[in-house]
Amino acid sequence: MSDKPHGLGRNASNYGDPAFALYLRRSFAKSMGYSQAMLDKPVVGIADTASDYNNCHRTVPELIEAVKRGVLAAGGLPLAFPTVSLCEPSLSPCSMHYRNLMALDTEAMLANQPMDAAVLVGGCDKTVPAQLMAAISANVPSVMLVVGPMLAQAFEGERLSACTDCRRYWARYRAGEVSEEKIGQVEGKLATTAGTCGVMGTASTMACIAATLGFMPLEAASAPAVHADRLRIAEEAGAQAVRLIRNPLPPLSLMTQGNLDNAVRVLLALGGSTNAVVHLAAIAGRAGLALDLKRLDALSEETPVLVDLKPTGEGYMEDFHAAGGMRALLWELRDLLDLSAKDLDGRSLAERIGDGSHYVDRRIIRARGEPVSPVGGLVALFGSLAPEGAILKRSAATPALFETEARCIVFDGLADLSARIDDPDLDVTPQDILVLKGAGPRSPAGMPEAGYLPIPKKLARQGVKDMVRMSDCRMSGTAFGTIVLHIAPEAAVGGPLALVETGDRIRLSVKERRLDLLVEEATLAARRAAWKPAPAPKRGWDRLVHEQVTQAPLGADLAFLRAAP
Ligand code: FES
Ligand code: MG
Repeated sequence: MSDKPHGLGRNASNYGDPAFALYLRRSFAKSMGYSQAMLDKPVVGIADTASDYNNCHRTVPELIEAVKRGVLAAGGLPLAFPTVSLCEPSLSPCSMHYRNLMALDTEAMLANQPMDAAVLVGGCDKTVPAQLMAAISANVPSVMLVVGPMLAQAFEGERLSACTDCRRYWARYRAGEVSEEKIGQVEGKLATTAGTCGVMGTASTMACIAATLGFMPLEAASAPAVHADRLRIAEEAGAQAVRLIRNPLPPLSLMTQGNLDNAVRVLLALGGSTNAVVHLAAIAGRAGLALDLKRLDALSEETPVLVDLKPTGEGYMEDFHAAGGMRALLWELRDLLDLSAKDLDGRSLAERIGDGSHYVDRRIIRARGEPVSPVGGLVALFGSLAPEGAILKRSAATPALFETEARCIVFDGLADLSARIDDPDLDVTPQDILVLKGAGPRSPAGMPEAGYLPIPKKLARQGVKDMVRMSDCRMSGTAFGTIVLHIAPEAAVGGPLALVETGDRIRLSVKERRLDLLVEEATLAARRAAWKPAPAPKRGWDRLVHEQVTQAPLGADLAFLRAAP
């Protein structure tokens, strides 16, 4: 340990008398019953995201107990502190609107409370990116601990888990194939244990990415929430945080271009969530790096999808864990990775992957020679409708729709969408393109997961399962369909999407990576002149977001929180 202030001596409060400030802090800490010997130890802060609003984080109190054991046994003083906690379905207008608030809160507490290292306990979709963004910006040595995925539930001869099966059943209910009674029964079977959604949705994708980047051990990405291993992982996270105090590797030192590329490769090979593209762009931006969509597209061309999990495949996260998990996946990808990238213990990725002698279940994690798909799950599109880019998850899309030129039906915001999509008089055919605008990061909707526009009921009842749909918002990592997302610039800032009207023709070409609005420039100029932005929110967080939020290619972060490149 150096002579620099450590433990409770760090980040002194300012009373104009530093010695008094420390005296006061110690005496207040003593009111909690700590001995002097405990207060002299280095401190590991533990970000506690337990919340009665966050079902995914139900095990956090138990995990924190285990982290504390690990810290104490290794010679540190564990001090848990609450932060904002975000549960995907529990926030209005959507959890994404608050990811940066959680990042800001966590960064301020990490940087300014007395601690030498931290364990960040997260899991649900937005929490892991928020905590990574915070750790990088605060640059406090931090171990990530995710709560782990829930277990799937057996039900009438199949398995169910949140939330691909939620969407599947709901779509069948809308199509009249599932009764009122059955949909009610299924409601109680979709999420039956603590933990994050049990498929390769955003939470699982971000957990795999956090492990790849070196912020947690590889097996920590997939061990089920309710498995005893999860508690041992928590205990080890506490021990690792104390090791970090002795040999500090600050988060920024992990954020190299090579490691960022590794994360993108893993996202692609997982067939992972489109949301991870936005989150990785934000995480990279905190380290002065950029997640270039053209680079993502190039990496996608040479990275196979190897993992066969829902929403695009068959398995659940517990299958991925049992199949060999991240170690098996990274072993398959090793020639594509920067194996010199370091984890928090200073170990290279090559050391972490090992020698390939582990068990692998090939039904879930494929060999390179027999991939789920020879190319990655995501493509980036550019064109007159998306000058700054858009994303399509081709692994979850219908190839027959990849080359489409058609008339579009436009919905201006979520209220318009829900008011008209099921109108029996809506003029729509299965060949049309559905467009939702006004749902990007700066819109009042806050870039929700509404990109999975429902198939109009009258078409769903005719058996239509997929149509080309596009928007400036996101979709759940657990969703599927031929869906163009994250169109930038968004409609709310006056991007070309703002000018699209029902009846316009749009051309999607996955082959050419194009997304074009086929409307005369003179017509567009007239529409542009008539376009007016919506009024800005007057106060609070909404106002700060409105003033500062970046477009999706920069991660929809707040501009003033990004690092200078
Ligand atoms: Fe929390 Fe899906 S709702 S991970
Ligand atoms: Mg999700």
